[in-house]
Amino acid sequence: MTTTQKQYSVGGVLLERPFKIRRLGHFGFNSDNMAQAVHFYRDLLGFWESDVLDFKGIPGLGEKLAHIEDGRGYFFTHGSDHHAFVLFPRNVMDAFVAAGGGGGGQGEVTINQITWQTGALAEVVNGARFFEEQGIGIQRVGRDMPGSNWHVYPYDPDGHINELYYGIEQIDWTRRSKPREMYYRMFHEEPSLPQMSEEAEVEQALERGIDIYSGFHGVETLPAQYDVEGVLLPRPFKITKIGPVNLFVQEMDAALNFYVNHLGFTVTEETECLGYRLYFLRSGAEHHSLALFPKPLREKLGCSSHTTSASFGVEVGSYTQLRDAVAFLKEHGVEFKELPPELHPGIDYAAYGADPDGHLIQLYYYMEQIGWSGQPRPKELRRPVAVADWPETLEPLSDTYVDQVFQGPLG
Ligand SMILES: [Fe+2]
Repeated sequence: MTTTQKQYSVGGVLLERPFKIRRLGHFGFNSDNMAQAVHFYRDLLGFWESDVLDFKGIPGLGEKLAHIEDGRGYFFTHGSDHHAFVLFPRNVMDAFVAAGGGGGGQGEVTINQITWQTGALAEVVNGARFFEEQGIGIQRVGRDMPGSNWHVYPYDPDGHINELYYGIEQIDWTRRSKPREMYYRMFHEEPSLPQMSEEAEVEQALERGIDIYSGFHGVETLPAQYDVEGVLLPRPFKITKIGPVNLFVQEMDAALNFYVNHLGFTVTEETECLGYRLYFLRSGAEHHSLALFPKPLREKLGCSSHTTSASFGVEVGSYTQLRDAVAFLKEHGVEFKELPPELHPGIDYAAYGADPDGHLIQLYYYMEQIGWSGQPRPKELRRPVAVADWPETLEPLSDTYVDQVFQGPLG
């Protein structure tokens, strides 16, 4: 493994790289079954649409997509970030990448992006230079719309597109996204620093006569018929957080080098499953937001061979919601797969449902939190979980609901 000796000031604190990943911001899949996948993520899981982008309408790209009937990609969220999850057509993304555009996805890489929030715009710009110095391939630097986040896209050794960003657009209580007339603040290259604030952008848009309330308006269309701990919602649970991202990787040493030395993740824990070594990494106080599994384990576990995604995690608001979510999804025909607990240390109850393409979605309600000393809970002090027999109620752990801090109403 290589390490960098140089130090960088990140807001006045000296770090080994000029940025600090704060959390998983968003994630995406490329799909071969868009209609079914939109139904799965929107209607069943409850992500709501925050924007729809027709790639066929992008100048310079549309003609390359003439053979594709539907070029629409979907931006979804569960909270106030403009997007927490994106779903793009795989054939469109193949053409988009071939034309030099964004969005990962070649061969088994059906993950569109793995996107991490940093703390400032300077972290993104300096991060781009850092990756160049380190010889890390970058897809591009700039600022995309929809979403308005400033970003740099480095590739991991397996070709997964990671994104580091600053300042994603926040959706307010009216669920209205930024109007397209404000997209003139898009950047296709590294921005000079400093840039004007978003507040100044809104003032400028008003001065230009732009109707700032004319953007995409996400609307829930399904009946609110489930009492979720006192609030009526269209499904008996609410996604309150995204992640972890669990990957199958070709070469573990190369992947660890990228995520630990270049992106700055910390290994929280290693486990073993069927003779393979698994690594669980964090950027903050969570037990893990990223896990790396050796690719041969994919076949041993009977996971779909079409993707390097082992699973994408979504946390729901409570244990009751987790039980109800599994029952609701099964009622709606979602198939679940049993996977060994070695794949989710730090999570007690987890269930893995398959999306229409065969990507596994890891549902859970609790993740162990790591204190200042960086030590996970010893295995013998963890809650024993019977895979097939989930009780109706649980005794609390020392950190039960500590990570459940969803902002705003559940729906
Ligand atoms: Fe992104």
